[in-house]
Amino acid sequence: MNSEWKLPSRREAQHRTHKQSEIQRNLFVIPDEMKDFGNHRLFYIRTFGCQANVRDGETIAGILNEMGYSMTEDIDSADLIILNTCAIRENAENKVFGEIGNLKHLKLRKPDLLLAVCGCMMQEEGVVDRILRKHPHVDLIFGTHNIHNLPQLVYQASLSKERTVEVYSQEGDVIENLPVQRFGTSKAWVNIMYGCDKFCTYCIVPYTRGKERSRLKRDIIDEVRQLQQEGFKEVTLLGQNVNAYGKDLKMTDDFAQLLAAVAETGIDRVRFTTSHPWDFSDQMVNVIATYDNIMPYIHLPVQSGDNDILKIMGRRYTVESYREIYDKLKEVMPGCAFSSDIIVGFPNESDEQFQRTLDLVDYCHYDNIYTFIYSPREGTPAAKMVDNVSMETKKNRLQILNERVKKYALENNEKYLNQIVDVLVDGPSRKNESIYSGYTDTQKLVNFKVKNASVNEIIKVKITEAKTFFLIGEEI
Ligand code: 5AD
Ligand code: SF4
Repeated sequence: MNSEWKLPSRREAQHRTHKQSEIQRNLFVIPDEMKDFGNHRLFYIRTFGCQANVRDGETIAGILNEMGYSMTEDIDSADLIILNTCAIRENAENKVFGEIGNLKHLKLRKPDLLLAVCGCMMQEEGVVDRILRKHPHVDLIFGTHNIHNLPQLVYQASLSKERTVEVYSQEGDVIENLPVQRFGTSKAWVNIMYGCDKFCTYCIVPYTRGKERSRLKRDIIDEVRQLQQEGFKEVTLLGQNVNAYGKDLKMTDDFAQLLAAVAETGIDRVRFTTSHPWDFSDQMVNVIATYDNIMPYIHLPVQSGDNDILKIMGRRYTVESYREIYDKLKEVMPGCAFSSDIIVGFPNESDEQFQRTLDLVDYCHYDNIYTFIYSPREGTPAAKMVDNVSMETKKNRLQILNERVKKYALENNEKYLNQIVDVLVDGPSRKNESIYSGYTDTQKLVNFKVKNASVNEIIKVKITEAKTFFLIGEEI
């Protein structure tokens, strides 16, 4: 093994200090010899997982553009392929390993092809070790903390005969002034903070994304203003737990104040994800209710409806306090839509405990829930717990839960029948040019018959039919 490689370390990844992260403005530089390196070369990027990864993908694309590369959607014609990976559950990782395996043939046909893998999986010791041992056709491995080094990494991996591996595990800084190629034209992702310090016992994210570190408010507002000038209609503020925004900085702005400042820019639509129920403040509820351009849709992951399970998960709230936040939001915004994340089959979850999760779903009538079977993640506390729940039981629970989710999704959607809603237009459907799609302020997907609407407009649509996970309507 090459001694110059920088490999991930779990011990370092779980370490946290009280040192305040620095805002780095000069870390990204493309040396002259690398500036035209990508001219006449194509890159292909495939991103797995959450919005943080999608936003990283846009940074990667932006950096490669500055090196002269152009993006292609045709993987066969690419000179550089990047798999931007997700580590949240085992099945996410299996997909990536499947894709790495599939690319072996392409690499054999095109020996000059550069295959890079990056993202959360590369922050795991076991994964990098497996790639190094079993997948010699991977040329470049980098992690979530060193995307700014991409020019040097691509250059080195292309010119050297050896593979290049660079993954930092120590707490990172906030790196500003990275280029970006936005994949959308009307909706944009805006990072407000990175990392997570919650250490829920099942979750790998605090290890793969490092400690919580916030961007400065002025940098965030500048980005939103710039997007507004470029014609974007919607921003989604991103963080693993946006409610913790600002807590790591020696300044007074918290998430509620930041949210208000973003709304004050006047951009048409403001969303945020993800909120942790533990520190969802009353000020946040007030700000959300005050500004019309903060969308009435809240994603509030509950994970379980049982207090004992929540405690073992390390979630730091109770079902009662969760319901209190839900009630407050419903009171100030009766039309607000809600979604959640729920894990079934956490170690030793009993039938009664699962039933309490269903009871909570009955209470909240969610518009949607992202449901998951618990997946042990190496190195997390939950992965060491002895588990007496069979996979068959877990699958049954998932199915029962999903049926319940569908019931409320349809019931909620049926309330939209004959209503006129605002829809931000995404564009025509692939199959039928006269059918467009877009989203309501409550994040409902609407497919509608178009009259004059064009992409990136907010228009009025009359809802004529309600399906479980989308609405059908006509532009009026
Ligand atoms: N197993 C199953 N689901 C998980 N999630 C996070 N870690 C795990 C895991 N180990 C789910 C949580 C989280 C969402 C992003 O993914 O519900 O909110
Ligand atoms: Fe994972 Fe919990 Fe952090 Fe969310 S809050 S990223 S579930 S550790």
